[in-house]
Amino acid sequence: MLKGKQIVLGVTGGIAAYKAVELLRLLTKAGAHVHVIMTRAACEFVTPLTFQTLSMNPVMTSLFNLIAEREIGHISLADRADLFIIAPATANIIGKLAGGIADDMLTTTVMATKAKVLIAPAMNVNMYTNPVYRDNEERLRRLGYLFVPPEKGELACGWEGEGKLATPESIFEEAVAALTPKALAGLTVMVTAGPTREEIDPVRFISNHSSGKMGYALAMAARRRGSRVILVSGPVALAAPAGVELVSVESAAEMRAAVMARAGDCSVVIKAAAVADYRPIERNGAKIKKQAAELTLQLVRNPDILAELGRLERRPFLVGFAAETNNLEAMATKKLKEKNLDMIVANDVTQADAGFNVDTNRAWLLFRDGSRVECPLMSKHELAAVILEHIAAELAKA
Ligand code: PMT
Repeated sequence: MLKGKQIVLGVTGGIAAYKAVELLRLLTKAGAHVHVIMTRAACEFVTPLTFQTLSMNPVMTSLFNLIAEREIGHISLADRADLFIIAPATANIIGKLAGGIADDMLTTTVMATKAKVLIAPAMNVNMYTNPVYRDNEERLRRLGYLFVPPEKGELACGWEGEGKLATPESIFEEAVAALTPKALAGLTVMVTAGPTREEIDPVRFISNHSSGKMGYALAMAARRRGSRVILVSGPVALAAPAGVELVSVESAAEMRAAVMARAGDCSVVIKAAAVADYRPIERNGAKIKKQAAELTLQLVRNPDILAELGRLERRPFLVGFAAETNNLEAMATKKLKEKNLDMIVANDVTQADAGFNVDTNRAWLLFRDGSRVECPLMSKHELAAVILEHIAAELAKA
């Protein structure tokens, strides 16, 4: 995701400085080369050695360190950076940047860079709501600086409120978004994810093994590309991705209602959900008691949501998924045609490392014009990026 990207991570003096260590780990794991600059106050909270060991790069702490300056040089770091992240960012550093003060290694390098700067503030709630601070943040936003807002919660100073550093995962997500070209800006993309649950009685249901991972990865990939994202999700154990409009549903009927009510607003619909094809003909109002040795459940077909979208007069760009156990391409091609889709993602769900409830997938992308692209084993996030790039390319042709 961040393979080969040069990221400068500025760490300033706050109790949340230790969380920057976890952020550094996420960035390096994603393939980025990270160069850390610490302010003098930051070194009071975490030692430079920790960042140096994990980044495998020298940590810059002083503007007047001749060796570091000769080896790296703050201007060279400013030029080389694809992205600057300041996390945690104190009111002090934000004030200095807004006022054009460059009096240490971090402020000097930020001032000299042309890269995007992503700021994750962390401070006392009264500092965060102070009009002086608000003006500084506003000014920087107007100048194009990006912010990951702090969370509400118990603060190290004892106060309760906004000011707690955003999680390393959400700062990481904003960093990826900042570096992703906005190929879908201005569009609304709807993604469906997860399983549906078809209730038998108040305590039992029919469902499947979908975890929602594929659909949630698609929603995040669409958001990173600048689109408004509506995520219609069946019951899953995943946290709602930041910046995405989550619509939670249970049954296929609820999913259908949620999708059809919003389809008119969408340029693209991606149906990664594993919708139950059948539901019990009626839901028992009370728990079914254990009686005879055998019990027959009568099922009835659920509406095919994707096929219904395919019949719309003004239909969005439609992407289906096909979860197959045999004749993968033939079955997927049949669904592409029958449901009037623009593209279908065919995944072979007999493989242990692909399909349901794993972090990886492998698939064929099949297009309306008969062309096809093979996607070998990769993470669901990588596959989501490939799918979104193809959607953007197809939309650009239209
Ligand atoms: O959630 P994960 O654990 O990450 O797993 C991902 C996945 C395996 C669920 C996903 O990659 C996938 O293949 N999703 C589609 C599964 C499926 O239901 O396939 P299908 O061949 O039964 O349906 C074909 C298409 O029609 C799908 O886009 C489906 O959303 C849609 N459909 C199906 C039935 C129905 N009643 N309405 C629909 O819209």
